[in-house]
Amino acid sequence: MLRISLLRLLGRTGLSRGLCLRDSRLRHYSSCPLGARDDAQDARAYFTTPIFYVNAAPHIGHLYSALLADALCRYRRLRVPSAAATRFSTGTDEHGLKIQQAAATAGLAPAELCDQVSAQFQQLFREASISSTDFIRTTEARHRVAVQHFWGVLKARGLLYKGLYEGWYCASDECFLPEAKVTRQPGPSGDLCPVSLESGHPVSWTKEENYIFRLSQFREPLQRWLRGDPRAITPEPFHHAVLQWLEEELPDLSVSRRSSHLHWGIPVPGDDSQTIYVWLDALVNYLTVIGYPNAEFKSWWPTTSHIIGKDILKFHAIYWPALLLGAGMSPPHRIYVHSHWTVCGQKMSKSLGNVVDPRSCLDRYTVDGFRYFLLRQGVPHWDCDYYDEKVVKLLDSELADALGGLLNRCTAKRINPSGTYPAFCTTCFPSEPGLVGPSVRAQAEDYALVSAVATLPKQVADHYDNFQIYKALEAVSSCVRQTNGFVQRHAPWKLNWQSPVDAPWLGTVLHVALECLRVFGTLLQPVTPSLADKLLSRLGVSATERGLGELYFLPRFHGHPCPFEGRRLGSETGLLFPRLDQSRAWLLKAHRT
Ligand code: MSP
Repeated sequence: MLRISLLRLLGRTGLSRGLCLRDSRLRHYSSCPLGARDDAQDARAYFTTPIFYVNAAPHIGHLYSALLADALCRYRRLRVPSAAATRFSTGTDEHGLKIQQAAATAGLAPAELCDQVSAQFQQLFREASISSTDFIRTTEARHRVAVQHFWGVLKARGLLYKGLYEGWYCASDECFLPEAKVTRQPGPSGDLCPVSLESGHPVSWTKEENYIFRLSQFREPLQRWLRGDPRAITPEPFHHAVLQWLEEELPDLSVSRRSSHLHWGIPVPGDDSQTIYVWLDALVNYLTVIGYPNAEFKSWWPTTSHIIGKDILKFHAIYWPALLLGAGMSPPHRIYVHSHWTVCGQKMSKSLGNVVDPRSCLDRYTVDGFRYFLLRQGVPHWDCDYYDEKVVKLLDSELADALGGLLNRCTAKRINPSGTYPAFCTTCFPSEPGLVGPSVRAQAEDYALVSAVATLPKQVADHYDNFQIYKALEAVSSCVRQTNGFVQRHAPWKLNWQSPVDAPWLGTVLHVALECLRVFGTLLQPVTPSLADKLLSRLGVSATERGLGELYFLPRFHGHPCPFEGRRLGSETGLLFPRLDQSRAWLLKAHRT
């Protein structure tokens, strides 16, 4: 198993020791409803992305978070097709000092900035085919109701108290920092300025009376939760990292700010002089979406999977589960964590001017092409580097040449003049390997191909379960290569439909290759929905034949009838994925602008 050094894994994301206030009335918190997942609810699943800050336009890192959630969710729908069984939420995080300051800098009212940037996220997600069922904005009235109710529950359970907070606050990261996590760097005027050691963002000294959450009481319940459920946080190194953080003491957490300092937020119920801390506000979005505080949320909550970036692990794996336990709920069912995209080896940032605009990428590489690239290249436990040539190379070789070429080889008029799914001949390709006879044409490598494609759906399922979508795509791509090898080996273009010796074998070669393509098309739906649709439509696979339940590969090989045999292929729709080599990418871009 991967046991990477924590620092390397998390980059700037070590657990910031927040505020060091301790409450003298420490007591052991014992009533934690762990493992509250009910089997009857297994048909349901609720996926969430983080909600995105609206201080700046979306970049490819944001899109990546949303795509991972989208692919998991689409895969789930293939497994459990009932439309009502899956929910998928995304949205924008609109309150807090960061947004208040960004609006002031832009000369806009905070609400105006929120409307503008939230609309950009919504448009990006529509364009990128993010299949969310809900988009939440934290400035909505339904959210204020949920947050204030949640606050009331914590208060009623004796988990909030008033105390003096004195320490560093980083508005860019919206988090409290202990002295050990602060360093000095020369500012614009040359003077040394305090900045966060992890993010490099400026910090300022804060001293005020706030409401404090008794986070310290939750260290042991959190440890019990994580030790009892080793899959709670995936990939494993992140689970391990959180447990390691929990080895240290957990200080209580300030959960409000003076309204005179932070007015852009939700007021503390019954105390207008205080505004609720933006992270508490933001995290509750996951409950708002499923109807909290109305009872309907109870059937969805135990099925929750959060997809988050590594920089917000502490908030989701420590603060949020503690708040939930405090409010009498179970921690999230799953937390899937991903790493970051850098650009040509550097961190993406507005100041470096290297932010990659996802909409121009969708435009240049097509929606399916760019989705495929990010999900095929993005490895959750490592940072990944973006550069344009890498996209062109990958898409040309895997989608245009390998997959598109394979489809073309099996459907082109020259090779498949009847335009049908030809019959499979069991004497040419007997189910038992090693048989010899005049009509047996299949070779050992052909059996290896059939076995690889037969096990592909299970492999893909395992990779999705382990949040390794890149591995699922790698496995599909390797089978595509193997299928191209099969076609190349038997060169159907050299066989003659008119010959009674060749014809059954020619039909069999095409049948096997089309069956492989049907499996690839079905499994690619979560990542490249339009391309998969085009592929499956070309094969004549109807909308009701595209679920995982219908994915019985090569039934004729096992002596079962094949519903596709003899069926007319769908109409010709041109190249599956046009090559994007440099000149073409440039032409495409020029054409659109
Ligand atoms: N608003 C908070 C989340 C609140 S959730 C209750 C936030 N917003 S964010 O806009 O800064 O980040 C949203 C997501 O984008 C996070 O998962 C973050 O990890 C991800 N990314 C931001 N930059 C990224 C990269 N460069 N690469 C990949 N993902 C990155 O945090």
